[in-house]
Amino acid sequence: MQVAAGEAKNGHPDFAAELRALIDRAREKQALPMPAGTTIPMAAPRGELAELLAAFYPETRLSDMILTPALNARLHRIVDEQRQIAKLKGHNLHPRRRLLLTGPPGCGKTMTASALAGQLGVPLLVVRLDGLITKFMGETTAKLRMIFDAVERTRAVYLFDEFDSIGTERGSGSDVGEIRRVLNSFLMFIERHTGTSLIIAATNHSHSLDTALFRRFDDLLEFHRPDKPLIRQAIQRRLALAPVKAKVDLAKLSTAAQRMSFAEIVKSCDEALKEVLLRDRHELRTADVLTAISERRTFLRRGK
Ligand SMILES: Nc1ncnc2c1ncn2[C@@H]1O[C@H](COP(=O)(O)OP(=O)(O)O)[C@@H](O)[C@H]1O
Ligand SMILES: [Mg+2]
Repeated sequence: MQVAAGEAKNGHPDFAAELRALIDRAREKQALPMPAGTTIPMAAPRGELAELLAAFYPETRLSDMILTPALNARLHRIVDEQRQIAKLKGHNLHPRRRLLLTGPPGCGKTMTASALAGQLGVPLLVVRLDGLITKFMGETTAKLRMIFDAVERTRAVYLFDEFDSIGTERGSGSDVGEIRRVLNSFLMFIERHTGTSLIIAATNHSHSLDTALFRRFDDLLEFHRPDKPLIRQAIQRRLALAPVKAKVDLAKLSTAAQRMSFAEIVKSCDEALKEVLLRDRHELRTADVLTAISERRTFLRRGK
Protein backbone atom coordinates (compact mmCIF):
# COMPACT_ATOMS: atom_id res chain seq x y z
CA MET A 1 0.00 0.00 0.00
CA GLN A 2 2.93 2.31 0.75
CA VAL A 3 4.44 1.60 -2.64
CA ALA A 4 1.07 2.37 -4.22
CA ALA A 5 0.82 5.64 -2.31
CA GLY A 6 4.33 6.57 -3.42
CA GLU A 7 3.53 5.85 -7.04
CA ALA A 8 0.38 7.92 -6.82
CA LYS A 9 2.39 10.85 -5.43
CA ASN A 10 4.94 10.47 -8.20
CA GLY A 11 2.27 10.94 -10.83
CA HIS A 12 1.52 7.32 -11.67
CA PRO A 13 -2.12 7.03 -10.60
CA ASP A 14 -2.91 4.16 -12.96
CA PHE A 15 -0.07 2.02 -11.66
CA ALA A 16 -1.03 2.91 -8.10
CA ALA A 17 -4.63 1.89 -8.73
CA GLU A 18 -3.49 -1.37 -10.27
CA LEU A 19 -1.35 -2.16 -7.22
CA ARG A 20 -4.23 -1.41 -4.88
CA ALA A 21 -6.55 -3.65 -6.89
CA LEU A 22 -4.01 -6.47 -6.69
CA ILE A 23 -3.74 -6.13 -2.92
CA ASP A 24 -7.51 -5.99 -2.66
CA ARG A 25 -7.93 -9.18 -4.61
CA ALA A 26 -5.31 -10.94 -2.51
CA ARG A 27 -7.12 -9.83 0.65
CA GLU A 28 -10.43 -11.06 -0.68
CA LYS A 29 -8.96 -14.49 -1.25
CA GLN A 30 -7.68 -14.58 2.29
CA ALA A 31 -10.98 -13.58 3.83
CA LEU A 32 -12.41 -16.93 4.86
CA PRO A 33 -16.14 -17.33 4.39
CA MET A 34 -17.99 -17.81 7.62
CA PRO A 35 -19.08 -21.46 8.11
CA ALA A 36 -22.80 -21.90 7.57
CA GLY A 37 -24.85 -21.65 10.73
CA THR A 38 -22.30 -19.59 12.63
CA THR A 39 -23.71 -16.70 14.59
CA ILE A 40 -22.00 -13.56 15.71
CA PRO A 41 -23.59 -13.02 19.10
CA MET A 42 -22.87 -9.30 19.00
CA ALA A 43 -24.75 -8.81 15.77
CA ALA A 44 -27.66 -11.12 16.45
CA PRO A 45 -30.56 -8.84 17.32
CA ARG A 46 -32.30 -9.73 20.57
CA GLY A 47 -35.55 -8.87 22.26
CA GLU A 48 -37.71 -6.31 20.55
CA LEU A 49 -35.01 -5.62 18.00
CA ALA A 50 -35.23 -9.23 16.78
CA GLU A 51 -38.76 -8.49 15.53
CA LEU A 52 -37.43 -5.60 13.49
CA LEU A 53 -34.18 -6.95 12.10
CA ALA A 54 -33.39 -10.28 10.46
CA ALA A 55 -29.67 -11.15 10.47
CA PHE A 56 -27.80 -12.89 7.66
CA TYR A 57 -24.12 -13.63 7.11
CA PRO A 58 -23.85 -13.70 3.34
CA GLU A 59 -21.13 -15.46 1.44
CA THR A 60 -22.10 -13.67 -1.76
CA ARG A 61 -19.42 -11.51 -3.38
CA LEU A 62 -19.65 -8.81 -6.01
CA SER A 63 -17.87 -11.19 -8.39
CA ASP A 64 -20.91 -13.48 -8.15
CA MET A 65 -22.97 -10.79 -9.80
CA ILE A 66 -23.28 -9.97 -13.45
CA LEU A 67 -22.99 -6.21 -13.70
CA THR A 68 -22.38 -3.55 -16.29
CA PRO A 69 -18.82 -2.22 -15.99
CA ALA A 70 -20.20 1.11 -14.76
CA LEU A 71 -22.25 -0.41 -11.94
CA ASN A 72 -19.43 -2.78 -11.05
CA ALA A 73 -17.03 0.15 -10.70
CA ARG A 74 -19.45 2.09 -8.54
CA LEU A 75 -20.01 -0.86 -6.21
CA HIS A 76 -16.28 -1.46 -5.87
CA ARG A 77 -15.81 2.22 -5.08
CA ILE A 78 -18.28 1.86 -2.21
CA VAL A 79 -16.36 -1.16 -0.89
CA ASP A 80 -13.09 0.72 -1.25
CA GLU A 81 -14.36 3.70 0.69
CA GLN A 82 -15.77 1.45 3.41
CA ARG A 83 -12.52 -0.50 3.71
CA GLN A 84 -10.47 2.66 4.07
CA ILE A 85 -12.89 4.42 6.35
CA ALA A 86 -10.22 5.39 8.87
CA LYS A 87 -8.12 7.09 6.24
CA LEU A 88 -11.08 9.13 5.05
CA LYS A 89 -12.23 10.06 8.54
CA GLY A 90 -8.71 11.18 9.39
CA HIS A 91 -9.27 13.92 6.83
CA ASN A 92 -12.81 14.64 7.94
CA LEU A 93 -14.27 12.90 4.91
CA HIS A 94 -17.04 10.33 5.01
CA PRO A 95 -17.41 7.18 2.93
CA ARG A 96 -20.54 6.62 0.87
CA ARG A 97 -22.77 5.08 3.50
CA ARG A 98 -26.36 5.75 2.43
CA LEU A 99 -27.36 4.07 -0.81
CA LEU A 100 -30.60 4.10 -2.74
CA LEU A 101 -31.12 1.13 -5.08
CA THR A 102 -33.88 1.30 -7.70
CA GLY A 103 -34.99 -0.93 -10.56
CA PRO A 104 -37.41 -3.66 -11.61
CA PRO A 105 -37.74 -6.84 -9.52
CA GLY A 106 -35.21 -9.62 -9.98
CA CYS A 107 -32.39 -7.40 -11.20
CA GLY A 108 -30.02 -7.59 -8.25
CA LYS A 109 -30.98 -5.04 -5.59
CA THR A 110 -31.25 -7.46 -2.69
CA MET A 111 -28.33 -9.47 -4.05
CA THR A 112 -26.21 -6.30 -4.06
CA ALA A 113 -26.92 -5.73 -0.37
CA SER A 114 -25.80 -9.33 0.32
CA ALA A 115 -22.72 -8.96 -1.86
CA LEU A 116 -21.66 -5.72 -0.18
CA ALA A 117 -22.04 -7.32 3.25
CA GLY A 118 -20.18 -10.44 2.08
CA GLN A 119 -17.44 -8.40 0.53
CA LEU A 120 -17.00 -6.26 3.64
CA GLY A 121 -17.26 -9.25 5.98
CA VAL A 122 -20.10 -7.70 8.00
CA PRO A 123 -23.60 -9.04 8.72
CA LEU A 124 -26.59 -8.13 6.59
CA LEU A 125 -29.44 -6.88 8.77
CA VAL A 126 -32.72 -6.71 6.89
CA VAL A 127 -35.29 -4.36 8.36
CA ARG A 128 -38.69 -6.00 8.63
CA LEU A 129 -40.94 -3.26 7.37
CA ASP A 130 -44.09 -5.18 8.31
CA GLY A 131 -42.94 -5.11 11.91
CA LEU A 132 -42.00 -1.47 11.64
CA ILE A 133 -45.17 0.10 10.31
CA THR A 134 -47.91 -0.11 12.89
CA LYS A 135 -51.21 1.62 13.18
CA PHE A 136 -50.23 3.22 16.43
CA MET A 137 -49.10 6.76 16.20
CA GLY A 138 -45.57 7.34 17.34
CA GLU A 139 -44.79 3.68 17.85
CA THR A 140 -43.22 3.36 14.44
CA THR A 141 -40.90 6.28 15.10
CA ALA A 142 -39.81 4.69 18.38
CA LYS A 143 -39.03 1.48 16.49
CA LEU A 144 -37.07 3.37 13.86
CA ARG A 145 -35.06 4.93 16.65
CA MET A 146 -34.21 1.46 17.95
CA ILE A 147 -33.03 0.42 14.51
CA PHE A 148 -30.87 3.48 14.08
CA ASP A 149 -29.37 2.99 17.55
CA ALA A 150 -28.28 -0.43 16.30
CA VAL A 151 -26.93 1.16 13.11
CA GLU A 152 -24.58 3.29 15.16
CA ARG A 153 -23.73 0.52 17.64
CA THR A 154 -23.12 -2.45 15.34
CA ARG A 155 -21.30 -2.18 12.05
CA ALA A 156 -23.33 -3.96 9.39
CA VAL A 157 -25.22 -3.47 6.16
CA TYR A 158 -28.79 -2.39 7.05
CA LEU A 159 -31.25 -3.08 4.26
CA PHE A 160 -34.63 -1.33 4.06
CA ASP A 161 -36.00 -3.58 1.33
CA GLU A 162 -39.24 -2.77 -0.52
CA PHE A 163 -38.62 0.70 0.77
CA ASP A 164 -41.57 2.20 -1.14
CA SER A 165 -43.87 1.18 1.69
CA ILE A 166 -42.46 4.07 3.70
CA GLY A 167 -40.87 6.06 0.91
CA THR A 168 -43.95 6.77 -1.22
CA GLU A 169 -44.66 10.35 -2.10
CA ARG A 170 -45.84 12.33 0.82
CA GLY A 171 -49.52 13.09 0.45
CA SER A 172 -50.53 9.91 -1.37
CA GLY A 173 -52.19 6.86 0.14
CA SER A 174 -54.60 6.59 3.04
CA ASP A 175 -52.52 6.65 6.22
CA VAL A 176 -51.02 9.93 5.10
CA GLY A 177 -50.33 11.26 8.57
CA GLU A 178 -48.47 8.22 9.84
CA ILE A 179 -46.51 7.65 6.62
CA ARG A 180 -45.37 11.25 6.59
CA ARG A 181 -44.28 11.03 10.20
CA VAL A 182 -42.34 7.83 9.55
CA LEU A 183 -40.72 9.23 6.44
CA ASN A 184 -39.72 12.41 8.23
CA SER A 185 -38.12 10.45 11.07
CA PHE A 186 -36.38 8.19 8.59
CA LEU A 187 -34.94 11.20 6.75
CA MET A 188 -33.80 12.74 10.00
CA PHE A 189 -32.14 9.51 11.11
CA ILE A 190 -30.24 8.92 7.89
CA GLU A 191 -29.19 12.55 7.79
CA ARG A 192 -27.55 12.12 11.20
CA HIS A 193 -25.86 8.83 10.37
CA THR A 194 -22.11 9.29 10.27
CA GLY A 195 -21.03 5.90 11.61
CA THR A 196 -19.40 2.94 9.92
CA SER A 197 -22.56 1.06 8.93
CA LEU A 198 -23.94 1.02 5.44
CA ILE A 199 -27.61 1.90 5.01
CA ILE A 200 -29.28 0.60 1.86
CA ALA A 201 -32.81 1.40 0.75
CA ALA A 202 -34.16 -0.64 -2.18
CA THR A 203 -37.30 -0.04 -4.21
CA ASN A 204 -38.96 -1.23 -7.41
CA HIS A 205 -40.70 2.09 -8.00
CA SER A 206 -38.31 4.99 -8.08
CA HIS A 207 -40.96 7.26 -9.66
CA SER A 208 -43.16 7.17 -6.60
CA LEU A 209 -40.37 8.22 -4.28
CA ASP A 210 -40.36 11.65 -2.77
CA THR A 211 -37.72 13.86 -4.37
CA ALA A 212 -36.64 15.07 -0.93
CA LEU A 213 -35.44 11.50 -0.39
CA PHE A 214 -32.95 11.42 -3.20
CA ARG A 215 -30.94 14.26 -1.71
CA ARG A 216 -30.38 12.40 1.56
CA PHE A 217 -28.53 9.52 -0.06
CA ASP A 218 -24.84 9.48 -0.99
CA ASP A 219 -25.32 7.30 -4.05
CA LEU A 220 -28.20 6.32 -6.30
CA LEU A 221 -27.68 2.97 -8.03
CA GLU A 222 -30.06 2.11 -10.84
CA PHE A 223 -30.57 -1.53 -11.79
CA HIS A 224 -31.91 -2.61 -15.17
CA ARG A 225 -32.97 -5.75 -16.94
CA PRO A 226 -29.91 -7.25 -18.64
CA ASP A 227 -29.14 -6.54 -22.29
CA LYS A 228 -28.20 -9.37 -24.65
CA PRO A 229 -24.50 -9.66 -23.70
CA LEU A 230 -25.38 -9.70 -19.99
CA ILE A 231 -28.15 -12.26 -20.57
CA ARG A 232 -25.60 -14.40 -22.33
CA GLN A 233 -23.23 -14.15 -19.37
CA ALA A 234 -26.03 -14.99 -16.93
CA ILE A 235 -27.01 -18.12 -18.86
CA GLN A 236 -23.42 -19.16 -19.38
CA ARG A 237 -22.58 -18.80 -15.72
CA ARG A 238 -25.65 -20.64 -14.54
CA LEU A 239 -25.11 -23.54 -16.92
CA ALA A 240 -21.43 -23.75 -16.02
CA LEU A 241 -22.58 -24.98 -12.61
CA ALA A 242 -24.84 -27.58 -14.18
CA PRO A 243 -24.38 -31.20 -13.06
CA VAL A 244 -24.86 -32.32 -16.68
CA LYS A 245 -23.15 -31.31 -19.90
CA ALA A 246 -24.73 -28.23 -21.45
CA LYS A 247 -24.71 -28.11 -25.23
CA VAL A 248 -26.56 -24.93 -26.04
CA ASP A 249 -26.68 -22.16 -28.59
CA LEU A 250 -26.06 -19.15 -26.35
CA ALA A 251 -26.89 -16.62 -29.07
CA LYS A 252 -30.30 -18.17 -29.61
CA LEU A 253 -31.01 -18.37 -25.89
CA SER A 254 -29.99 -14.80 -25.19
CA THR A 255 -32.29 -13.57 -27.95
CA ALA A 256 -35.15 -15.64 -26.55
CA ALA A 257 -34.61 -14.30 -23.02
CA GLN A 258 -34.67 -10.62 -23.93
CA ARG A 259 -36.55 -8.32 -21.53
CA MET A 260 -36.50 -10.94 -18.79
CA SER A 261 -34.98 -10.16 -15.40
CA PHE A 262 -31.90 -11.94 -14.07
CA ALA A 263 -34.10 -13.81 -11.63
CA GLU A 264 -36.34 -15.10 -14.44
CA ILE A 265 -33.34 -16.15 -16.50
CA VAL A 266 -31.81 -18.04 -13.59
CA LYS A 267 -35.16 -19.71 -12.92
CA SER A 268 -35.55 -20.74 -16.56
CA CYS A 269 -32.10 -22.35 -16.59
CA ASP A 270 -32.87 -24.17 -13.35
CA GLU A 271 -36.21 -25.44 -14.66
CA ALA A 272 -34.50 -26.80 -17.77
CA LEU A 273 -31.85 -28.50 -15.64
CA LYS A 274 -34.40 -30.12 -13.38
CA GLU A 275 -36.20 -31.52 -16.39
CA VAL A 276 -32.98 -33.07 -17.72
CA LEU A 277 -32.05 -34.52 -14.33
CA LEU A 278 -35.48 -35.99 -13.62
CA ARG A 279 -35.51 -37.69 -17.02
CA ASP A 280 -32.04 -39.13 -16.39
CA ARG A 281 -30.68 -37.49 -19.49
CA HIS A 282 -27.01 -36.63 -19.73
CA GLU A 283 -27.11 -33.49 -21.77
CA LEU A 284 -28.90 -30.16 -21.60
CA ARG A 285 -29.93 -28.82 -25.02
CA THR A 286 -30.96 -25.48 -26.42
CA ALA A 287 -34.56 -26.65 -26.79
CA ASP A 288 -34.77 -27.49 -23.06
CA VAL A 289 -33.92 -23.95 -22.07
CA LEU A 290 -36.12 -22.44 -24.81
CA THR A 291 -39.09 -24.40 -23.52
CA ALA A 292 -38.39 -23.26 -19.97
CA ILE A 293 -38.11 -19.64 -21.12
CA SER A 294 -41.39 -19.69 -23.00
CA GLU A 295 -43.17 -21.39 -20.12
CA ARG A 296 -41.80 -18.79 -17.78
CA ARG A 297 -43.08 -16.00 -20.05
CA THR A 298 -46.58 -17.49 -20.18
CA PHE A 299 -46.49 -17.77 -16.42
CA LEU A 300 -45.42 -14.15 -16.04
CA ARG A 301 -48.14 -12.90 -18.41
CA ARG A 302 -50.77 -14.66 -16.33
CA GLY A 303 -49.53 -12.92 -13.23
CA LYS A 304 -50.26 -9.51 -14.71
N1 LIG B 1 -27.00 -8.83 -11.44
C1 LIG B 1 -27.22 -10.12 -11.18
N2 LIG B 1 -26.27 -11.04 -11.43
C2 LIG B 1 -26.51 -12.34 -11.21
N3 LIG B 1 -27.65 -12.83 -10.70
C3 LIG B 1 -28.63 -11.97 -10.44
C4 LIG B 1 -28.47 -10.57 -10.65
N4 LIG B 1 -29.61 -9.95 -10.29
C5 LIG B 1 -30.45 -10.91 -9.86
N5 LIG B 1 -29.87 -12.13 -9.95
C6 LIG B 1 -30.51 -13.41 -9.58
O1 LIG B 1 -31.88 -13.17 -9.31
C7 LIG B 1 -32.18 -13.43 -7.93
C8 LIG B 1 -33.10 -12.35 -7.38
O2 LIG B 1 -32.44 -11.09 -7.41
P1 LIG B 1 -32.70 -9.97 -6.32
O3 LIG B 1 -31.43 -9.32 -5.99
O4 LIG B 1 -33.47 -10.55 -5.17
O5 LIG B 1 -33.66 -8.98 -7.12
P2 LIG B 1 -34.33 -7.63 -6.62
O6 LIG B 1 -33.79 -6.56 -7.54
O7 LIG B 1 -35.81 -7.85 -6.84
O8 LIG B 1 -34.00 -7.42 -5.20
C9 LIG B 1 -30.83 -13.46 -7.25
O9 LIG B 1 -30.86 -14.28 -6.12
C10 LIG B 1 -29.92 -14.01 -8.33
O10 LIG B 1 -30.04 -15.42 -8.44
MG1 LIG C 1 -35.36 -7.51 -3.64
